[in-house]
Amino acid sequence: MRTQVGIVGAGPAGLTLARLLRAEGIESVVLEARSRDYVEHRIRAGVLEQGTVDTLVGAGAGERLRREGIVHHGIGLQFGGERHRVPLSELTGGAAIVIYGQTEIVKDLIAIRLDAGDPLHFEVEDVAVHDVESDRPRITYVHEGRPQELECDLVAGCDGFHGVCREAIPAGVLTEFWREYPYGWLGVLAHAAPAHGEVVYCNTERGFALLSLRSPEVSRLYLQCRPDEDVGEWPDERIWEELEARVAVPGYTLNRGPIAEKGVTGMRSYVAEPMRHGRVFLAGDAAHVHSPVGGQGMNTGIGDAMNLGWKLAATVRGWARPGLLDTYEQERHPVGEMVLRMTDGAYKLVMARTRAGLALR
Ligand code: APR
Repeated sequence: MRTQVGIVGAGPAGLTLARLLRAEGIESVVLEARSRDYVEHRIRAGVLEQGTVDTLVGAGAGERLRREGIVHHGIGLQFGGERHRVPLSELTGGAAIVIYGQTEIVKDLIAIRLDAGDPLHFEVEDVAVHDVESDRPRITYVHEGRPQELECDLVAGCDGFHGVCREAIPAGVLTEFWREYPYGWLGVLAHAAPAHGEVVYCNTERGFALLSLRSPEVSRLYLQCRPDEDVGEWPDERIWEELEARVAVPGYTLNRGPIAEKGVTGMRSYVAEPMRHGRVFLAGDAAHVHSPVGGQGMNTGIGDAMNLGWKLAATVRGWARPGLLDTYEQERHPVGEMVLRMTDGAYKLVMARTRAGLALR
């Protein structure tokens, strides 16, 4: 089999890239290890930056997002027992954030792709990328029990942190920077109407807490905890009591409701370089992992797809000027680094130490 761009991974980065390529008239095949049901229900980020909204709307994938997304013109920061509002739209000349779950973006993009009859294969196994330094890279995989080989002009590795595409970059070429934090987040999805109109980040002596939401009926709430915290030690009653203790301010009462899901996420930051080797390109979590604050992983992944899409299209068509593809790494790698620096003041130091060849942790 042949295609123009082979895309590994049907997360937000891979699906957005496939959509943008389609808009340019470029064929692609998307290969996903998990089932459709799994990727459509994997609870992840839900805060879209203005640039992400613009990308999805521009790609023709914004119809439901515009209808159901909840626009926030500000965020709350709570510290010293007081809540302060940061008026984002006022400060940025009109930009806003939109609350719309990653699951919903993934559902929208999958539906559009399958309705158009474009190839998207779920539950593929044993994916491996070969000959990335040649003109004809190949992806081998097993689908419905049959071994397959896909010859591509270019390969996009959008297969997340645990993916296989990064392995196509030889060990001597790939440099990895990472940092693990001594805390995690206990994330809760509750069927409770959010009493907070906007997202609120709370700094307290008991630890961090985040008030977020997914819809007018569903709250998304987080508590800082140990990275190896046993979620079994957190019955619903304890979660509500701890949230109330951390987010209390005069005049605010948290609404309680049935907890539909709870889980612990360890905090980690990671950047790989280069983001390209030969004809394979890394995008999204495959290239950089961010803490979940502000949905940075999703926003950065979709930003990667936006940057890469038209450049891959121009290359496949033979219109690209020499060096165009190099600009992907030049433009996107600093974004990955910048987001990390913003989330962790010590990151610069870690990077410098890594470059000097010292152990990271
Ligand atoms: N073969 C095929 N698919 C794979 C393989 C593989 N070997 N390994 C992983 N995948 C799939 C995963 O199952 C997943 O669906 O690749 C997809 C990668 O998607 P994400 O992990 O969602 O990564 P990305 O698209 O880069 O999205 C960026 O946003 O909310 C944040 O960190 C969160 O994942 C999120 C990120």
